[in-house]
Amino acid sequence: MINLSVNIKSKNKSYPVFIENQTISALKEKILSFLNGKNFLVVISEKVEKLYGKELSFEKSQKFILKDGEKEKNFKNYKKILEKALKMKLTRHDAIVAVGGGVVGDLAGFAASTYMRGTGYIQVPTTLLACIDSSVGGKTAIDTNYGKNLVGSFYQPDVVFINPNFLKTLDDRQFKSGLGEVVKYTFIEKSCKCEEDLNLTNFLTENVQNILGKNEKTLSKLIEICIKLKISVVEKDETESGLRKILNFGHTYGHAVEKITNYKKYTHGEAIVEGMKFAFNLAVKRNLIDKNYKYFADDVIKKFNFREIQPFSQEKMVELMQMDKKATSKNIVFILPTDYSTVNEFSLLPEEINL
Ligand code: GLY
Repeated sequence: MINLSVNIKSKNKSYPVFIENQTISALKEKILSFLNGKNFLVVISEKVEKLYGKELSFEKSQKFILKDGEKEKNFKNYKKILEKALKMKLTRHDAIVAVGGGVVGDLAGFAASTYMRGTGYIQVPTTLLACIDSSVGGKTAIDTNYGKNLVGSFYQPDVVFINPNFLKTLDDRQFKSGLGEVVKYTFIEKSCKCEEDLNLTNFLTENVQNILGKNEKTLSKLIEICIKLKISVVEKDETESGLRKILNFGHTYGHAVEKITNYKKYTHGEAIVEGMKFAFNLAVKRNLIDKNYKYFADDVIKKFNFREIQPFSQEKMVELMQMDKKATSKNIVFILPTDYSTVNEFSLLPEEINL
């Protein structure tokens, strides 16, 4: 078992992240033991419930089953979760347990952060994306008609239980979506300022087949490396006032890809991979990096065979990027590569990004 720890000094809060390949019933025992007799509500993805509901064997009355898909991360479900918690008479000393991908984690986390001004919250991520990113770091949110994640909070879980065994049943496209964010870490690794030299780039390039083949040990190690990088960033900047912005590498253009296709055509990871390619091209154009680094990055990305993205009108994409919540007036904020595994923040005018 790998036991990591997140320490958010400003909030005087630390919590463990366990990474362990184990049976579902063993995982359930660990969750119960952590809860130590507390009352709890499990918010679980419908898909995960179908696949693992029997083994997890939570009582019906303790469960809120959430349909799958980003559109479920809404006010209506948020309200329903709170109402269910109230009906169950949960107190602020009890807990909400999120079992699923990023949608479940974000929604359940936001409910936990506001229920009685904050109740316990346990993350059990079941997708690669949630294992290596959203389950750690405390970003919680729901979507609105005006945009994604516009209502939310920074609220750290009490514990994260990662069981890579869940990934065996994750469909290939969702698995690859997570790999998009894994590849992102390789291009920001040095900027994460982790004390340990993890060398994700070597690990990725040496283990492509084992990763794509979902080899248990390889996935555990891969998740460990990514989470160590994420911990290093969020411990230094929980609320994204500085360093944490680097986690948005590839996201400025990637979010525009998601928006222009109504969040339907491409997965988050596919969009982010396209966003990273855009960022590398922009960095070359602005002489931030030499072409050899861009070719190297192209090669790393190619190894994972991500889905190709159609071309879009540059004008429309610029318009969408200007609407991003991180944009300031006309300027668009990009995280761009400046050296191997190193990125920096740039605020550019639309005319400065014409490729
Ligand atoms: N997913 C990016 C972050 O946690 O900041």
